[in-house]
Amino acid sequence: MSTQNKTNRKTILDIKKMKIQGEKIAVLTAYDYGMASIMDESDIDIILVGDSLGMVVLGYDTTLPVTMEDMLHHTKAVSRAANSALIVADMPFLSYQVSTQTALANAGRFLQEANAQAVKLEGGRECADTIQKITSAGIPVMAHLGLTPQSIHQIGGYRVQGKKEDSAHRIIEDAKIIEEAGAFAVVLECIPEGLASEITQSISIPTIGIGAGVECDGQVLVINDILGMYDKFTPKFVKKYANLNLEIKKAVKSYISEVKNGTFPDSEHSFK
Ligand code: KIV
Repeated sequence: MSTQNKTNRKTILDIKKMKIQGEKIAVLTAYDYGMASIMDESDIDIILVGDSLGMVVLGYDTTLPVTMEDMLHHTKAVSRAANSALIVADMPFLSYQVSTQTALANAGRFLQEANAQAVKLEGGRECADTIQKITSAGIPVMAHLGLTPQSIHQIGGYRVQGKKEDSAHRIIEDAKIIEEAGAFAVVLECIPEGLASEITQSISIPTIGIGAGVECDGQVLVINDILGMYDKFTPKFVKKYANLNLEIKKAVKSYISEVKNGTFPDSEHSFK
């Protein structure tokens, strides 16, 4: 059970106010204490403990194998680091789809055991009752529309959603439904920028885009992607702000070579 009380963290009210004031919301994923500390000290608005950890940290091909225990373990680590960012934890596959009761019980664990302030779940109208149930219990919910990776097998691949008029219309309706159900924000993943702009203007809660253009109220990306650490697959919407894969390989190779040729440790790194 968590005993920490991070009273200076942003709240969902701060995040909602940013939309009203036209201030963009910056969101990144983190999965561990070290990275979350750096982000928090850099004044990120929201840290999302995404179930993308299944792919970039645990090495699975999809997010589907991620469990509640995985998510709680990593959310606890991130929460220990966060003094100013709002912490949102992703609800993993099947932790909220089976019944509204289990969804509420699982959502509650993120606040009670892992010190998160909100949860995220994927889906539109089919999740409306669940969102209502969870928010009625005092747990803020971030929704997720467009490309929803937990439905990858139904969608048939990581592809742009809402390109046709009927599917675009359905996503707009879903956004209104989840707002009505009580969500405080919504991630829009991989949809045309015009559609994201229309949704952003038609709902009062913040839209957080990932591959959804610049008109969203905020943006989210996976930290391993922007640092150039995850090189298995780079979606078009990812901008690499660093190439740490290369930097880490250089450092590791230098270390190996110094160990092998006996130049490490030198006197500076040894005790007399
Ligand atoms: O799991 C995740 O990291 C996400 C974001 C990419 C939105 O859902």
